[in-house]
Amino acid sequence: MEIINRRQRMSSVARKIRREQDRTIGLVPTMGALHEGHLSLVREARRMCDIVVVSVFVNPTQFGPSEDFEHYPRDLTKDTAVLTDYNVDYIFAPSAEEIYPKDFSTYVNVEGLSEQLEGASRPNHFRGVATVVSILLNTIRPDFAFFGQKDAQQALIIRRLVRDLAFDTEIVVLPTVREDSGLAISSRNLYLTAAEQQAGSVIHRALAKAKESYKKGERHAGKLAELVRNTVETEPRFRVDYVSVVDAETLERLDKIEDRPILIAVAAYIGKTRLIDNTMLSKAKKDSSVAKA
Ligand code: PAJ
Repeated sequence: MEIINRRQRMSSVARKIRREQDRTIGLVPTMGALHEGHLSLVREARRMCDIVVVSVFVNPTQFGPSEDFEHYPRDLTKDTAVLTDYNVDYIFAPSAEEIYPKDFSTYVNVEGLSEQLEGASRPNHFRGVATVVSILLNTIRPDFAFFGQKDAQQALIIRRLVRDLAFDTEIVVLPTVREDSGLAISSRNLYLTAAEQQAGSVIHRALAKAKESYKKGERHAGKLAELVRNTVETEPRFRVDYVSVVDAETLERLDKIEDRPILIAVAAYIGKTRLIDNTMLSKAKKDSSVAKA
């Protein structure tokens, strides 16, 4: 395994792999502090691709001025040890100056999908994500890039970005990995005490309740959102930022749920830590399983 810090070295290594060796490249973009969620992406990349590149870069442009950029957990030594065990071929770990030279002035904005949900609470967040992912895709030109459904809006935005700007990379989105308690695994869980982590499972329980209610026939988006909010708030340490019931492709808010895939997304604060989670409701799936039975 090689750790690469320079953009130029990364692109020349990737070019060689593509041209001279005719092998497929999989990219797993991360901000490090690797956990089981990241590793599920690495595992799938290893399975699908000849060469696996994991990028580790805490991207300053996706953090707001009052967010946790300075304190975001960083441990490249530990990440390297973990990725060695997973037989990763390259770690791309550039500095901020390497990605954003002094006169950097070009940003990518995926309009229409970036302003709501996370975007409403974190202005410019997705501009930062779309910009850095564009740079990574252009540097490495992977055949496949892997993302988690944990960040559902991000995955949707990346898919749109790749389609709109004709990147030659297929986006693979993989399911959310959870603790036994149901809490979605996140690097930010490191900020929580053990008791807070335990309390965090209420988010998943709330989403599961909404899913159950949907299965029983509830089609009123507002009622499902209220059920999620009320359930999360049974845990007094939590403050709900938003619960949104939206079209899973357009992120448009809905009143009545029709025959389309639906995303329920939640963000909640426990102390200063902001946790997000989501679930999908899909009538089509339910119907097909009924049909099979
Ligand atoms: P980061 O939060 O490090 O996440 C890297 C990838 O891991 C993302 O695709 C995220 O959705 C996925 N992931 C995180 N937790 C997961 C979980 N519990 N289950 C499954 N997948 C999970 O997301 C980012 O970094 C950044 O925005 C990035 C895309 C790297 C751009 O800077």
